[in-house]
Amino acid sequence: MSTYYIQTYGCAMNYSDTERMEAYLQALGFTKKEEPKGADLVIFNTCSIRQKAEDRVYGQLRVMGEYKKTHPNMLVTVTGCMVRKSSSRYSPERDKLFSTMRELDIALRIEELPKLAALVREINPETQIPEIPEESLESYFQIDPTHSSHQSNAQAFVAISNGCDKFCTYCIVPYSRGREKSRKLEEILNEVENLVKNGCQEVTLIGQTVNSYGLSTYDKEEKRFAHLEKEPFVHLLEELDKFSEKGLQRVRFTSPHPKDMSDQLIEAMATLKTHLPYLHLPVQSGDNRTLRRMNRTYTIEQYKEIISKLREKIPGIAISTDIIVGFCGETEEEFENTLKFFEEMQFEHAFISQYSQRTGTTAARFMKDDISNSVKKTRWHKLNDLLRKNSLSAHQKFQDKVVNVMVESQNGEDCLGRSEHYKTVQFKSGRDVLGKIVPVKITDPREWILIGELA
Ligand code: 5AD
Ligand code: SF4
Repeated sequence: MSTYYIQTYGCAMNYSDTERMEAYLQALGFTKKEEPKGADLVIFNTCSIRQKAEDRVYGQLRVMGEYKKTHPNMLVTVTGCMVRKSSSRYSPERDKLFSTMRELDIALRIEELPKLAALVREINPETQIPEIPEESLESYFQIDPTHSSHQSNAQAFVAISNGCDKFCTYCIVPYSRGREKSRKLEEILNEVENLVKNGCQEVTLIGQTVNSYGLSTYDKEEKRFAHLEKEPFVHLLEELDKFSEKGLQRVRFTSPHPKDMSDQLIEAMATLKTHLPYLHLPVQSGDNRTLRRMNRTYTIEQYKEIISKLREKIPGIAISTDIIVGFCGETEEEFENTLKFFEEMQFEHAFISQYSQRTGTTAARFMKDDISNSVKKTRWHKLNDLLRKNSLSAHQKFQDKVVNVMVESQNGEDCLGRSEHYKTVQFKSGRDVLGKIVPVKITDPREWILIGELA
């Protein structure tokens, strides 16, 4: 029987795609291998968000070249954000990737996953792969990951849309994943219903701009959501909330865009049983001029208003964000504004990245990547120092408090999980608590983690 190995890079969306891919490969009769050496099919599910992420894949491909010497039939596939068009080494529409990656056999856009079997056959006509009718795989979202490979029964990521229409000038996603398309409502509800039947208690909805669910140009043209009274995303949250009667306890979503953080949505977050006091809301910069160059389509004042509404309606809500430092033309003053804004908003956590130019984006075509690497690094460290201070003081508020932790891993007595506020909590337990939500009293709040004991 043929074997496969998948290495995943990047965001939650890629991990969710990997689950779908595993379900597909297992349906084709492949079995999973825990390491690439000796596997018949090796797949890299890649990320393009920064150059560093791509460099890691190039490094791994060179290693695969070595493995191929002893296992010449090994097929190396790259999918995910680094691929623009699906093709195999032998097909006429060979992807540009093949000239830069000698070890590569197949390049595949993730939504063209159903073509993988045909591409494998094209290279290795002898490969024993059953024929799966293409029409049953028409939409890659229809490949249901539930039955094969969700990591833990208690938690699941559910993709609700793919692609992005926002075109931030620095970002490759609208080009790598294409325009935004939402999944059908019934399909999502069915998937979650099945998950809940299997014991799932926590669902994280994912999408590039998750809260614009049903609002994209494509969705509007298709008129699939026109009959709803509320915004499609709010409607979806309300429908999911009904599963609380069947055992669903928590619904998270990531990442929303500030432009679509409506009052309706804030109200739903404040009132639904399954919603939690946590939001990750990328701001990218604390300066209006930078935001304009980034094409973020909101101002700092508008962002602030959203946060104050959230804090008023959901007391104690934890807010985290994404920031890019060293974007094209970012002056010292603009960066200082970001620092001030970060302090003022009291972000408790953040993914801070140094701007990395991506070929094909508006910024790469029309702006100058004129901030030196050393200045980017200095700005990153300044912001990171502030983040550490914010994170510690947010954590100290939990001293001696009891939080409810969804246990994500347990190794003997050592347990790790997430609280309502999405804080990482570490504690010991003599009994099996994996996949359960348990009360933990915080005894030692640290910079990045809360340490506690079972309450
Ligand atoms: N350079 C640096 N960071 C980027 N991000 C997106 N594109 C780039 C880029 N070209 C960051 C943004 C986004 C997160 C997923 O990655 O902060 O929110
Ligand atoms: Fe990229 Fe902007 Fe879309 Fe996020 S909203 S995926 S940063 S283009």
